Amino acid sequence: MTDTLTETLPTTGPVVLEAIHLRKHYAVKRGAFKPPATVKALDGVSFQLEAGKTLAIVGESGCGKSTLARSVTMIEPPSSGQLLYDGRDVVGRSVAEMKELRRTVQMVFQNPYGSLNPRKTVGSILTEPLVINTDLGKQARRERAIAMMAKVGLRPDQVDRYPHMFSGGQRQRIAIARALMLNPRVVVADEPVSALDVSIQAQVLNLMMDLQEELNLAYLFISHDLSVVRHIADAIMVMYLGRPVEHGPRDVVFTRPRHPYTRILLAATPRVNPALRAERVVPKGELPSPLNPPPGCPFHKRCPYATDRCASEVPALRPVDERLVACHYAEDMAV
Ligand SMILES: Nc1ncnc2c1ncn2[C@@H]1O[C@H](COP(=O)(O)OP(=O)(O)OP(=O)(O)O)[C@@H](O)[C@H]1O
Ligand code: SF4
Ligand SMILES: [Mg+2]
Repeated sequence: MTDTLTETLPTTGPVVLEAIHLRKHYAVKRGAFKPPATVKALDGVSFQLEAGKTLAIVGESGCGKSTLARSVTMIEPPSSGQLLYDGRDVVGRSVAEMKELRRTVQMVFQNPYGSLNPRKTVGSILTEPLVINTDLGKQARRERAIAMMAKVGLRPDQVDRYPHMFSGGQRQRIAIARALMLNPRVVVADEPVSALDVSIQAQVLNLMMDLQEELNLAYLFISHDLSVVRHIADAIMVMYLGRPVEHGPRDVVFTRPRHPYTRILLAATPRVNPALRAERVVPKGELPSPLNPPPGCPFHKRCPYATDRCASEVPALRPVDERLVACHYAEDMAV
């Protein structure tokens, strides 16, 4: 545990990825005569991810999930905050040091159609990371690629085929294989099954769980759909307008949610928590713009339980009943 960090959950194993108060702010133009405005896409996110475990990040479109994925993989470095891979600080490293550290954390994107180069064969897609990062010869690289294809459930004799010759599920297997070529400890998966048919989703999730067990991989698994993360997650972080609102062990969050926003998301998810479906709470109005977030609790304009206090006082993320939650009235919210 880091001294400066108060908002974390207890951990039991080695922490492979740690984020401390990560922020990503974008300056956006508002017209020729106006000063640029700031989008706080990520506004203070902390978590610890343990080896072999899955932390699911959930929330509506625009809450900052992909921004978090890009920040923790250093595709786009965070505006502020600390990021540690295997206990080593990442932000501010030189390009050479970064190259080495980057291997630890790899990414799988949502769209298996867009994320694979259509002009390259599976073999060259999989061997590319080895060309850049290892001294292996051509034959050894090809053997590694073929072995990885078998590991993710693809036929090794298809190594010279192109991405368009595979189905959506198979393409996502290729993307997973590519992410694993450098033996990472963490895979950040941004909506990895959202573009797939429901029947195929389960197969890809099962593959990811098998690989996790075999390789002791940690996943940061991003999804807008709670039913997708139900089986794969060990812990859940629910985000709203760039901030965590509830963060706890999977069963705690799913069966006894204490943030009104989590309760609304769960009530809208079929078959997840029948007790909550009876509550029939619906959020009022639209998701506010992160360009102009409301004062007080960011959720207060939509929250069915909001009081005057919520309109002026920002609720801190604090421990309540085995999880962290940012609501003034979390103690009163029981199923
Ligand atoms: N490069 C950028 N410049 C300005 N604003 C951005 C930029 N990237 C993201 N944003 C804004 O930051 C917020 C968070 O976006 P992000 O893509 O992280 O959300 P998300 O949770 O991944 O949404 P979705 O579920 O639709 O993928 C949004 O309001 C988005 O418009
Ligand atoms: S602090 Fe108030 S507005 Fe925010 S979630 Fe809790 S009850 Fe709702
Ligand atoms: Mg996204």
